[in-house]
Amino acid sequence: MAKYILGIESSCDDTSAAVLANTIILSNVIANQKVHSEYGGVVPELASRAHQQNIIPVIDTALKRAKISKNELSAIAYTNGPGLLGSLLVGSSFAKAMAYSLDIPLIEVDHLQAHVLAIFADKPDEEKPKPAFPFLCLTVSGGHTQLLKVNDYFDMDLLGGTIDDAAGEAFDKAAKILGLPYPGGPVINKLAQDGNPERFSFSIAHLPDLQYSFSGLKTSFLYFVRDNLKENPNFIAENLNDLAASIQAAIIRSLTDKVKEAIRCYDLKDIALAGGVSANSGLRNAMLEIGEKYRRNIFLPPLELTTDNAAMIAICGYFKHLTGDFSTIRSVPYSSARQRVP
Ligand code: KG4
Ligand code: ZN
Repeated sequence: MAKYILGIESSCDDTSAAVLANTIILSNVIANQKVHSEYGGVVPELASRAHQQNIIPVIDTALKRAKISKNELSAIAYTNGPGLLGSLLVGSSFAKAMAYSLDIPLIEVDHLQAHVLAIFADKPDEEKPKPAFPFLCLTVSGGHTQLLKVNDYFDMDLLGGTIDDAAGEAFDKAAKILGLPYPGGPVINKLAQDGNPERFSFSIAHLPDLQYSFSGLKTSFLYFVRDNLKENPNFIAENLNDLAASIQAAIIRSLTDKVKEAIRCYDLKDIALAGGVSANSGLRNAMLEIGEKYRRNIFLPPLELTTDNAAMIAICGYFKHLTGDFSTIRSVPYSSARQRVP
């Protein structure tokens, strides 16, 4: 009999609920919070208030779309961290109360592991090939940039990460410099499609090993735009597409250089991409080119599973359910991986 897992995600500014039947997505509802766009970033207090308003209708809609009653659920999986604590508390408190009242298992999920495992969830009648363990995964989101060796569902070695900004932050900050709304990644991606990526060149950081850094790139972009605006007040408007294409190309180059290095250092045949920035069409194409050149199999998540969503939480819940890895209502949310309470 199928296991029906309800997933709840509330780590940042998206309230999401999903129902999976084993690995098949029956519903995946996401309420984006528009309230942050005018502030140029997520305002934590506004995010937790919006989660409180959204959580009941979002879960209700997810159950209705899946045509599942809450009494048929096998377990509830929720994001326990990392993320904004006020936001996490809304989802985790709700998950705990619901699991307790239905007397079904509660499963805590790590948001970053969920991004990686999103690739294992399927839409009905659309089963895709899956990477084989161990595989290399580049996780690129608004809060994290990580190269991982994924040995098993919940056994991942961190090979490298960012020492300052995340790749998504680099996109968001570049967009802010150009006067574009938050989140900037999708906007830059769209503008870049009609721009020349070689028009302006920005130098990227060359850190040892598999480490990333994006803060220098952001500063050089800021100074470049500021200096040109002094000469020509219409500089941004007249060059918007080329600016977007050029900064996007620099971020992608920075990401893919280290993927190539990881290929040289670790003999991993399968490579996956995960996280919000994996929605970027330029990055997706660059990864496919790497796959061809280095004869590696590239696994790209479907677009709806790239940015924050609860289907990725539910798929983790499913794999944990298989081994009986349940949690209790005493489990404490954590804001960063370092603060995780064992
Ligand atoms: O994974 P995610 O939804 O949230 C976090 O866990 O952080 O990632 C959000 C990030 C934002 O920085 C957003 O600008 C970026 O993903 N993003 C993109 C694209 N879509 C979302 N960046 C570049 N191109 C995109 N198409
Ligand atoms: Zn995320």
